[in-house]
Amino acid sequence: MRTKGGGPAGASRSRDGAQEGVNDEREPQFVPEKPRRSLDEVILPDAVRQRVELALDLVEHHTLLYDIWNLRSIDPYRRGTALNLYGPSGTGKSLCAEALAHRLGRPVINVDYAQIESKYVGETPKNIVRCFEVAREHGAVLVFDEADSILGSRLSRVSQSADHAVNVSRAVMLRQLDRFDGLVVFTTNFPRNYDAAFVRRILAHVRFELPDPETLHRLWQRLLPEALPRETGLDQGALAQESAGLAGGDLVNVITGAAAAAARRGGESGVVTAADLVAEIKNARRARAEVGRAPDPGMPADYTVRRLDSREVPPELRAPAVVEAEGAESPDAVTAEGAEPPDTAAPPAPAGSAGEAEA
Ligand SMILES: Nc1ncnc2c1ncn2[C@@H]1O[C@H](COP(=O)(O)OP(=O)(O)O)[C@@H](O)[C@H]1O
Ligand SMILES: [Mg+2]
Repeated sequence: MRTKGGGPAGASRSRDGAQEGVNDEREPQFVPEKPRRSLDEVILPDAVRQRVELALDLVEHHTLLYDIWNLRSIDPYRRGTALNLYGPSGTGKSLCAEALAHRLGRPVINVDYAQIESKYVGETPKNIVRCFEVAREHGAVLVFDEADSILGSRLSRVSQSADHAVNVSRAVMLRQLDRFDGLVVFTTNFPRNYDAAFVRRILAHVRFELPDPETLHRLWQRLLPEALPRETGLDQGALAQESAGLAGGDLVNVITGAAAAAARRGGESGVVTAADLVAEIKNARRARAEVGRAPDPGMPADYTVRRLDSREVPPELRAPAVVEAEGAESPDAVTAEGAEPPDTAAPPAPAGSAGEAEA
């Protein structure tokens, strides 16, 4: 089951699969990229904006705060800064993470769960160590999107080797966070799933919200491209009212759908009309209500507490032991309440050596 390198075709965890058959197929590549989008492009309600600015202050004034004003005396082990951007989907968290790197003039490494989670025992911790290494080499900002999968509660009933492997991964993540002196940004729609140990390690949590009417208006102004032909007198204020309850990401889909409708008509009537947009707004609202299991964005205080049941994880992403235990009751709901295992419970994770442990 756990033969090295004997995985099925397509087991590569890389985004583009480019290295498949070139490098070890199990080894994802973490590529630093130049952030293209700036904070000017991020349209946020004032309160959220201020939290984002504060998060930036924590990074930009790190030396002043810790070395000169001696906050190190009360927080001696903190080296870098970890931020958490949480809130409903489509509210600009990933965009903001990229924009933070842009502001800091640093490359960004986007790490997604599928990239680091390996079905090979021992590979996941190795991948975690590796992405921090690459970030260190390039002075890059590390962004973990959909971080709830990676930072989820460690399991207290460690009865299966797969669960043990998950706990090892989380412990390795904690250790890497403690050692990293750069910026790590987590984003999630399911913040309640974070293990308590991570909650404390993260210096600032920024809650993203669905846009209020004024923010929606600004989003409409920002997101309609100059080059997009539209009927004269298109009223963005009215569109903002019409789209209450939608996020910026929804508006992107609305505008794209309306543009496609205009393109299909072509000719004289090939311009985006208010009716096109309103029709797409209705579709977007319906999709928000009917598709997926995200919490109702209208009730941001009540994030659904939910971890993936092992049966919801695609087979190719499951650890072997999870596949074997398919019929068994998932222990996912059990969390070590107030019993954070000491980090020493984890095996040491020096670079490159975490991989060979067989649970
Ligand atoms: N607050 C915002 N300001 C500007 N554009 C936004 C905002 N929120 C969403 N968008 C648009 O929607 C897209 C998807 O948003 P994204 O950052 O992926 O949302 P999230 O990560 O919160 O799910 C962005 O790339 C951007 O074009
Ligand atoms: Mg996102």
